[in-house]
Amino acid sequence: PTSDIAIICRKGCQSVRKYREQKERRLAQEKFELGGTKLGNILGIKRRDQKDDQSEDVDYKKSQKFAAHMQEKNEAVSDFAQKKTLDEQRKFLPIYAIREDLLKIIRENSIIICVGETGSGKTTQMTQVSFEETNLLVLNQYLHESGYTKRGMIGCTQPRRVAAMSVAKRVSEEMQCKLGDDVGYAIRFEDCTSEKTIIKYMTDGILLRESLTDPDLDHYSAVIMDEAHERSLNTDVLFGLLREVVSRRQDLKLIVTSATMDSEKFSDFFGNVPIFIIPGRTFPVESFFSKACVEDYVDAAVKQCIQIHLGAADGDILVFMPGQEDIEVTCELIKERLNDLEGAKPLSILPIYSQLPSDLQAKIFQKADDGIRKCVVATNIAETSLTVDGIMYVVDSGYCKLKVYNPRIGMDALQIYPVSQANANQRMGRAGRTGPGQCFRLYTERNFREEMLKTNVPEIQRTNLANVVLLLKSLGIQDLLQFHFMDPPPQDNLMNSMYQLWILGALDNTGSLTQLGRQMVEFPLDPALSQMLITSVGMSCSSEILIIVSMLSVPSIFFRPKGKEEESDAKREKFQVAESDHLTFLHVYIQWKKSGYSNNWCSDHFIHAKAMRKVREVRQQLKDIMDSQKLDVKSCGNWDVVRKCICAAYFHQAARLKGIGEYVNLRTGMPCHLHPTSALFGCGFTPDYIVYHELIMTTKEYMQCVTCVDGHWLAELGPMFFSLKDSLKTRGERARKETSERSTMEEEMRLAQEKLNRMKEEA
Ligand code: CDP
Ligand code: MG
Repeated sequence: PTSDIAIICRKGCQSVRKYREQKERRLAQEKFELGGTKLGNILGIKRRDQKDDQSEDVDYKKSQKFAAHMQEKNEAVSDFAQKKTLDEQRKFLPIYAIREDLLKIIRENSIIICVGETGSGKTTQMTQVSFEETNLLVLNQYLHESGYTKRGMIGCTQPRRVAAMSVAKRVSEEMQCKLGDDVGYAIRFEDCTSEKTIIKYMTDGILLRESLTDPDLDHYSAVIMDEAHERSLNTDVLFGLLREVVSRRQDLKLIVTSATMDSEKFSDFFGNVPIFIIPGRTFPVESFFSKACVEDYVDAAVKQCIQIHLGAADGDILVFMPGQEDIEVTCELIKERLNDLEGAKPLSILPIYSQLPSDLQAKIFQKADDGIRKCVVATNIAETSLTVDGIMYVVDSGYCKLKVYNPRIGMDALQIYPVSQANANQRMGRAGRTGPGQCFRLYTERNFREEMLKTNVPEIQRTNLANVVLLLKSLGIQDLLQFHFMDPPPQDNLMNSMYQLWILGALDNTGSLTQLGRQMVEFPLDPALSQMLITSVGMSCSSEILIIVSMLSVPSIFFRPKGKEEESDAKREKFQVAESDHLTFLHVYIQWKKSGYSNNWCSDHFIHAKAMRKVREVRQQLKDIMDSQKLDVKSCGNWDVVRKCICAAYFHQAARLKGIGEYVNLRTGMPCHLHPTSALFGCGFTPDYIVYHELIMTTKEYMQCVTCVDGHWLAELGPMFFSLKDSLKTRGERARKETSERSTMEEEMRLAQEKLNRMKEEA
């Protein structure tokens, strides 16, 4: 499409780009000054003074009029969170009034679909309602059996980690128990439940993993699959599995909840099951579209927020942005511009995104000090998963970040896309929860009507499925094309994912799991990481790789506080191992261990102590799995061997040197660059071949976390892609070789499948 909205999307947002470019250049420049090489000059990096030429005056007159208008409307609004107790708040929720009807329908059916506006109490109350109900069931069982059984847990799945944690916390408060006792949560690498736990919130990925060891989900008496309208990959796979589980287990209750009204599809999928609608209580929301196309949604959102804050009546603001970076820039710019305005009232600006530390996340639910307006800047997490009370104004950028398989780079990439109409309407609805509100849409009505999709494309149809394939295969589902998906993934996607698993050695030529593949399933990691971990055992460097994998599973170890950039960079530089970012991670961990896992050591070296403690926990959890798999943890002490092991798992993501700091991807021929934070960047050492952990696309295509490898290793470890004469061959020849290897594999898999089907028929 050549529409404006698509063009902005491809170019990215100007404010963010500017900010990012400044950051990357600053990084490169500082590194250049520190490292003393000529690299900075070669790359044309010059120090550029930041100058904000964008701040424009806000239209005050318009704001005043707007204020008067809203003040009238505002009288109806009361503030529950402040005045009412938790119990009173509970009883006020729409779901409370109809709980008897709800219980009745749960009692009479194995599966129900439950639809209700966001904030009606589905997530926090449904578990409690079912808890009170199953308490009776448990009690009955109690009379028959002696002793305590764990049968009877109520599980509630969430597509997002943040939602699972924060909702569990809220429910534990409502039930007046300690988080982790009666009410707990589990997310990857973090299990906050105990023997006592009866209500368990978890990500859908956790329940999917549990189904590996407990295919009938015997620990649960009820499963609530929340946020079904999000159609996350794991939820979609669980649909197919749970449909079967319910048919095997008459005593299991399955409740599927959705915030949107297109629930017929869910009902049909589960065999025409009843749909229960929670009557909503919403206030009207006035919606304003942009008159002209918005060039820069961050800038536009900042102006809109300031206008609301200066002019409009009380009520909090919720801004929707695609991702963390836009959120940070938006918060920063609002702060800056308010500072420049004399006499502006204080505004409490609160970001929320999944990588934000949980104590900061909790802030969005807290009431701001008296008379201070709150401005929450969020990703689509605040669309339906989290409800912040008191929002009167919504500012919608119209964009979100989606993980989409990108054939050009041969892997998933998080990219910014326009939201769907359904998302946009959900966002608007957030303004009308506690009173009438207003929604400012930073796109034109034409953009909305003609360029936005009606609903989202389910994740299963747009992302890499390697993990799902691995899981389903190990559940004994041989023919994935026959699996009962609500919306089947495109066959190409499926084959592509199988191909990736075959490259890693997880599948054989017939598409069955190999011994390695079976072991890989045990680890809650991306296939390449689990492959690396298992491979390291044979190469006697599992102790080192275990640490590297753990470090890669935790976000951002290093921090660069404002005003101390040079100092923190100098410290960071000391850890850097010139050939490898992976080895740099290893080095950091070993030094930290030597310090006795000291917190002070971390702060001295500008390293997040909390992140390091998490790394240690993750390492322990992975080690436990290795122990149970009889995989030895041993060290060879030779870091060249460690590099070779990294190469064994990442040879499919290799690049060759082309110019200074510039590489070409060996499989796609695409140019890609070392990131300025890489240990290899500007260190004077430019290896011919490297492998990378992932690609990120900001101002350029950057390789994140790279390690220098030997060209011979690539030929030895990735024979399907490379041979020793490769340097003579053209990329076209290599591509042809890859295509032919791949079609051979696909043909063999197809034959094996046919044979299997014939055998099934005969049986
Ligand atoms: O799931 P649904 O969107 O239907 O509603 P919910 O998440 O159960 O939220 C019900 C109420 O609990 C809302 O009014 C929220 O404001 C409140 N809540 C909260 O204050 N803190 C949380 N962490 C979660 C919910
Ligand atoms: Mg909910």
